Amino acid sequence: MTPTVAPFPAARLRRTRQSPALRGLVRENVLCVQDLIWPVFVRDGEDVEEPVNSMPGVVRRSVDKVVEAAQEAAALGIPAICLFPYTDPAKKTPGCEEAWNPDNLSNRATRAIKAAVPDIAVMTDVALDPYNSDGHDGFVVEGEIVNDATVKALVKQALSQADAGADIIGPSDMMDGRIGALRRALEETGHSNVTLLSYAAKYASAFYGPFRDAVGASGALKGDKTTYQMDPANSDEALRLVARDLAEGADMVMIKPGMPYLDICRRVKDTFGAPTFAYQVSGEYAMIAGAAQNGWIDGDRAMMESLLAFKRAGCDGILTYFAPAAARLLQQA
Ligand code: PBG
Repeated sequence: MTPTVAPFPAARLRRTRQSPALRGLVRENVLCVQDLIWPVFVRDGEDVEEPVNSMPGVVRRSVDKVVEAAQEAAALGIPAICLFPYTDPAKKTPGCEEAWNPDNLSNRATRAIKAAVPDIAVMTDVALDPYNSDGHDGFVVEGEIVNDATVKALVKQALSQADAGADIIGPSDMMDGRIGALRRALEETGHSNVTLLSYAAKYASAFYGPFRDAVGASGALKGDKTTYQMDPANSDEALRLVARDLAEGADMVMIKPGMPYLDICRRVKDTFGAPTFAYQVSGEYAMIAGAAQNGWIDGDRAMMESLLAFKRAGCDGILTYFAPAAARLLQQA
């Protein structure tokens, strides 16, 4: 339905744009710090912050530095931090055993953050790719990414994360049936309050490139992820995936990547009214941060504009590498 607009000059749509006061009054969407989840990369060692070349301003941190980052995030009012481990290639195997090692990097970082900064929510990633010598999110058997055996392993991985104290578990693997399996296992093991944020509509995207560098998965990856991640051409399929994951026990759903998929965010929010998140992924970050670094765009303005777009598209929150920078700007505003 196209709304009726009175003819000029009764309607001068510029009237409400003429001053900051009027623009503020008619503003439809606001970004606030409570909307942000900050993804951080964890590596081994102590007192290390190592730049990620393809993501200007982003570093891999040793666990002690991740704790400092969590303290900084909490002081800024950021509600959650999301951990991605850079795993030593020697610990990557076809059986991905490191994924459920109670003392793997992700679990050590979770325990350290929960001990030092109990109020910040810790989100962890469920998928085998950081631990898989094939670089895939699932087990590879004779060239095929096998679904059901992978789901069993994902359950072990998620339970080790819940035991370490994760508040939000984010399955990013795109296997079928994993949300139901994870929800059942969490209920059976006394983790009924652990929240599942499902990467429900995750597309096979070129925008993950810098992330795969950051976690050291690009060298390992054999082939691509198109047999489990979504075809960028599809939209209705996203609704079927979200419906399925909510029915299986997801508390919140995510669309990934973000900016090229704002139409999906809007459809998901309108259809389900569930807590809806978008992941502004590494390649989206790299485009903005890289252009800003070259002086081609105003980085701060482009960052805030891109984050506001997610609110306009109906998202309740955004995973973004810009979280601390955006939080600082919001604090000044
Ligand atoms: C893998 C995973 C990926 C990202 C988060 N979890 C990459 C992939 O699917 O290859 C990408 C995040 C980003 O690009 O910022 N389980």
